[in-house]
Amino acid sequence: MTVEAPSSRGLLNSEYVLSLVRADQPIPDPALPELALAGRANVGKSSLLNLLVGRKALARVSATPGKTRALNVFNWGDRCYLVDVPGYGWSRAGQADRAAWRGLVMHYIAERPTLKGALWLLDIRHDPSAEDISFGAMLARRKLPILPVLTKADKIGGNQRPQRIESIAKKVGLPPADFVVTSSLSREGQETLRDVVLAFLS
Ligand code: GTP
Ligand code: MG
Repeated sequence: MTVEAPSSRGLLNSEYVLSLVRADQPIPDPALPELALAGRANVGKSSLLNLLVGRKALARVSATPGKTRALNVFNWGDRCYLVDVPGYGWSRAGQADRAAWRGLVMHYIAERPTLKGALWLLDIRHDPSAEDISFGAMLARRKLPILPVLTKADKIGGNQRPQRIESIAKKVGLPPADFVVTSSLSREGQETLRDVVLAFLS
């Protein structure tokens, strides 16, 4: 096995490929495994994608929840496609938006053969919502490997951390040690996140 230096991993080329508007829409060659970044609206999915690939603004970050509407696909160093999935739980979404979200995202998660795993993002500050829990159940039903990530770690004090991780892990039924703690602001967790994702892909 070849072990690469962190610097070379950080330099993997990344580029936007296309936005899927249908769950069965093909991605042009090369054929690569797909890894979804999923979680509630505003949890920090697009920011985490940028943190992972080491680019400031590859995926669009927005202060207004619900801006990511299609499945945005990025090629990460020809290792995988990172798929920025529109967030759930967007409180101002209307019926039509919710139905459109369900049609696209549920089908993508449930049926996409090339989808190999999901980075599931939860905000470290909050206990999982009912929507988080049902989304997690859907991932589990599909037996999709889950890489759980806690976001916005800069927003809580270090002494609160162990208790927050414990509480969230318990509520979603995953081992606390599996969670990668991140902050897109301070870049905490960037290397660990890369290690976890690259190890998963290899
Ligand atoms: P949608 O695509 O709308 O579902 O949102 P998203 O999950 O892609 O979140 P996005 O990355 O757009 O971030 C939402 C907001 O949270 C933005 O204002 C970000 O700057 C902020 N944010 C994301 N990650 C962090 C973080 O680690 N720390 C802090 N302090 N803010 C963050
Ligand atoms: Mg987004």
